[in-house]
Amino acid sequence: MNLESEGKTLTELTDMTEVLEKQEEYTELLRDILFVRANNRQPKAMVRTYGCQQNVADSEKMKGMLEKMGCALVDEPDDADIIIFNTCAVREHAEDRVFGNVGALKALKRRKPSLLIGLCGCMMEQKHIAEKIYKSFPYVGLVFGTHVIHKLPELMYHSVTTGKRLVERGTDDGNIYEGLPIHRDGSFKGWLPIMYGCDNFCSYCIVPYVRGRERSRKPLTVIEEAKSMIAAGYKEITLLGQNVNSYGKGLDESVTFAQLLKSVSELDGDFWLRFMTSHPKDASKELIDVIAESPKISSHIHLPFQSGSDRILKQMNRHYDVERYLETVNYAKSKIPDLSLTSDVIVGFPGETYEDFQKTLDLIREVEFTSLFTFIYSPRVGTPAAKKEDPIPYEEKSKWFSELLKVQEEIAAKRCASMVGKTYRVLVEEKTKNGVLSARTQNNIIVEMEGSDSLIGTFQSAEVTQARNWILRGKLIEKEI
Ligand code: SAH
Ligand code: SF4
Ligand code: F3S
Repeated sequence: MNLESEGKTLTELTDMTEVLEKQEEYTELLRDILFVRANNRQPKAMVRTYGCQQNVADSEKMKGMLEKMGCALVDEPDDADIIIFNTCAVREHAEDRVFGNVGALKALKRRKPSLLIGLCGCMMEQKHIAEKIYKSFPYVGLVFGTHVIHKLPELMYHSVTTGKRLVERGTDDGNIYEGLPIHRDGSFKGWLPIMYGCDNFCSYCIVPYVRGRERSRKPLTVIEEAKSMIAAGYKEITLLGQNVNSYGKGLDESVTFAQLLKSVSELDGDFWLRFMTSHPKDASKELIDVIAESPKISSHIHLPFQSGSDRILKQMNRHYDVERYLETVNYAKSKIPDLSLTSDVIVGFPGETYEDFQKTLDLIREVEFTSLFTFIYSPRVGTPAAKKEDPIPYEEKSKWFSELLKVQEEIAAKRCASMVGKTYRVLVEEKTKNGVLSARTQNNIIVEMEGSDSLIGTFQSAEVTQARNWILRGKLIEKEI
C-alpha cells in the first residue's frame, strides 16, 4: 500500500503501514465470517451517503472495502446484511434526516438480528451526537468518525466477533491513508479528493471540527489517480476539497492548486476537469488564467460568497469583502468566455438585518449566477456563531429566503434564455424520470433532450432550442464541436 510520506517520521510511517496491513488481514478474515453470518451466501452491504461530495468519496472507499470483504452492494436496507449510514452535520435538517432514517431501521433489526448497522461520517465526530445515537439507538452496533474510515475492516471484525457495540471517533491523526480500494459510483463521472479537512473556521460552520485539519495529497498521487481514471474511461473528473485553492499547505514541494489543476488538465485523453469548492479569499488570478487557457477545464467556478454584506462577512470570518469578491468575479468574467458562476448563500446569520440581506440581493443581481445553493442559517453546537444573539425569528428569515429565490429565478431564466440557439458540446448523463436525456455543458449547465440510452456517458453536440425558466431543452445534432 502507498503512504503519504510527507512530513512524517519513520516511526509514524511504520505505524501507518501497520494499520493498513492489519486492515488487509481483517478483510481476509471477514470474507469467511460475513459469508457464514449471511447463512452461507454472499453477504449484502448498503452504504447510504448524506451530505457533500467529500462524504460521497469516503463512501466510495467504504464500498471498495466492503467489496473486498466479499460483499455485494445493494441499495435497499431490506436487502442488506450490513447497513452503513455516512452522515452530514452541516445543518440541523441534515441531522434530522439521519435520526429519522436510523429510527426506521429498528423494525428491520428486530426481524433480522444479525443485521450490522454502522453510523459514520461528520455527525459522529460531534461528541454530543455520538452519545445521543449510542443511547437512543441500541441496535446501532458501530459508531465511527471521519478519521477512521480506513479502519472499517478492523471495526467490523471486532463488532461481529465480540457482538459488542463499538464507538471510535475523535482521533484525527492528521494522516492520509492512501491505497484503499475504491468502488466508484459512476462509470464516466468521478470524484478525486485532493485534500481533506478545513482550516478556515468560518464562524457558522461545523466542518473544521468534524473533518480536522487541512492536509493535501501529494501531486503525483493525484496525477496517478487521474491517469487511472482516464484510462478507465472517465469523461469527467472533479477535484475535491473543502477549499481546493488552498491546496498544497504542508507538502514538502511547493505547489499551488492552479499548478495541480494545470498538470491534470495536460494529461492525454478526452475528458473534462472540474473542481469544488474554491474559497474567494484564495481564488487567485493564476487559477483563473489556468481555467481560461485549458479547454478541458470546466468554465464553471463554484465560488461561495455566503453574504453580500461586509459587516456580516467579517462576522462570518470569511476574510474577503464584497469589493474583493467582485474583483475576482470580474477578472474571471473578462478572461473566461461562457463562464458560469454558482455560489452558496446563507440567509439569516445571527445579527443579520434586512439591510444586510438586501446587500446579498444586490450582489446576486450584479454577478448574475447561473444557480445558487441557498441555506437558512442553522446554529451548530460548538461554533462561535451559535453563541451569538439571533433576534430575527425563523419565519422572518423564511420570507427573506423566498425573496432571494425569486430574484435568483429571474436571473437564471435570463441566463438560460441567452443560451437559446447556441450549440454546445455536452456530456450525456442519464435518462430522467420523464424519459428524456439529461446532459451537461462544459460549464455545468443541464440541457434536456430526446435521445437513446446508448448515448449515456458519451460526449455529444446539442443545440439549445428552448428555455423554460431555468430548464434548458435542446436537440442532439450530428455536427462535432
Ligand atoms: N467548504 C465549502 C462549503 C462547505 S459547507 C465552502 O467553504 O464553500 C456547504 C455550504 O453549507 C456552505 O458554503 C454554507 O453556505 C452552508 N453552511 C455551512 N454551515 C452552515 C450553517 N451553520 N447554516 C446554514 N448553512 C451553512
Ligand atoms: Fe466551512 Fe468555511 Fe471550511 Fe467551507 S471554508 S468548510 S464554509 S469552515
Ligand atoms: Fe456535511 Fe461533512 Fe460534507 S458536515 S457538508 S458531509 S464535510
